[in-house]
Amino acid sequence: MKTLLITGGAGFIGSHVVRLFVNKYPDYKIVNLDKLTYAGNLENLADIEGAKNYIFEKGDITDEAYIFDLFKKYAFDGVIHLAAESHVDRSISNPMEFVKTNIFGTVTLLNAAKENWKDNFEDKLFYHISTDEVFGSLDDGGFFTETTSYDPQSPYSASKAGSDHFVRAYANTYGLPVIVSNCSNNYGPNQFPEKLIPLFINNIRNNKSLPVYGKGENVRDWLYVEDHAKAIDVLYHKGKKGETYNIGGFNEWKNLDLIKVVCKVMDKKLGREEGTSEKLITYVTDRAGHDLRYAIDANKIMKELGWKPSLQFEEGIAKTIDWYMENEEWMKNVTSGAYQQYYDEMYDKRD
Ligand code: NAD
Ligand code: DAU
Repeated sequence: MKTLLITGGAGFIGSHVVRLFVNKYPDYKIVNLDKLTYAGNLENLADIEGAKNYIFEKGDITDEAYIFDLFKKYAFDGVIHLAAESHVDRSISNPMEFVKTNIFGTVTLLNAAKENWKDNFEDKLFYHISTDEVFGSLDDGGFFTETTSYDPQSPYSASKAGSDHFVRAYANTYGLPVIVSNCSNNYGPNQFPEKLIPLFINNIRNNKSLPVYGKGENVRDWLYVEDHAKAIDVLYHKGKKGETYNIGGFNEWKNLDLIKVVCKVMDKKLGREEGTSEKLITYVTDRAGHDLRYAIDANKIMKELGWKPSLQFEEGIAKTIDWYMENEEWMKNVTSGAYQQYYDEMYDKRD
């Protein structure tokens, strides 16, 4: 039996990764370590909470003593590291939180892995999940490849770039077996409604304005979250140690065009006259240092390992909107803060 540590498993992408691994690998023990910050929500994993091969540990990746004890307790065979502060706007108002979690927290995990695995790195893997934002901003042409130089522009991307560098430095210096992947924008169920798509779906439902930064001309490359989780599964099991892989959907959208699609689908869902939701669009002051365009060249993982996105965007966005419409309670709990009691009710009570 393999014991695998997944960090940040109560968050958006992490919850999809945890669910996939718990269901697909009944012989693995999956330990989900999450601090349950504002972005961590155990309701995301209510359906697998009772699974025999699943354990939740509430803890902080920056707590060195705790992390060392955790590695001793479970003797992990591998780590998939997703825990992070993830929202660019928050990094602009509070960069230090990003330094602590994304850099200090990652190095804490690397130290624990190195110390616990040093006698035998064979069959071990530290897999670090990163972002395309480390490559900076593209003009109209070209794609980010695995060899594009790092050029992070926001405190968030600088902190992720720093963590990526540490992961590679541990591979180079100590021989730690690592993989890094850099993915484009994810969308789908369970995303915290501070991010563009769930925020706008919720605002449209509640007839609130849709704050478009600048002119809405920035471009993002969108990937359905379950496709990212599947890519992580492929890379964890078949990726070459020491390598970097880009993950993306070849699915670029100008913000304004994407917002118009969301508005149109929402009008239909809500039985409103076409054009009603678009009237909620309000142009607001641009994000400071707003990257113009991200676009991932995902050919390496596609050609070498056979992964490809399974959903077309039209299908994915319809599925996503359906999910938020059908899970009004989830959204209400998140926006009211009630989701933060879930741990106390489900876990503390049992102790
Ligand atoms: P998220 O904000 O939804 O979730 C982050 C999770 O990490 C939360 O559950 C939170 O409680 C946990 N966490 C935060 N600080 C912690 C700490 N100190 N100790 C333990 N747990 C902590 O983020 P997400 O969007 O799911 O992103 C997950 C990872 O994927 C991040 O590393 C992010 O940089 C990367 N990524 C995200 C995207 C995207 O579009 N969302 C794209 C590419 C890469
Ligand atoms: O590219 C991968 C990254 O994608 C991840 O590493 C990050 O964790 C994730 O948050 C995401 O970053 P973005 O900044 O691209 O995502 P966000 O949803 O915040 O914004 C998407 C675009 O929409 C961006 O150009 C800013 C714009 N925007 C966003 C919000 C929240 C608006 O115009 N209005 C808004 O209210």
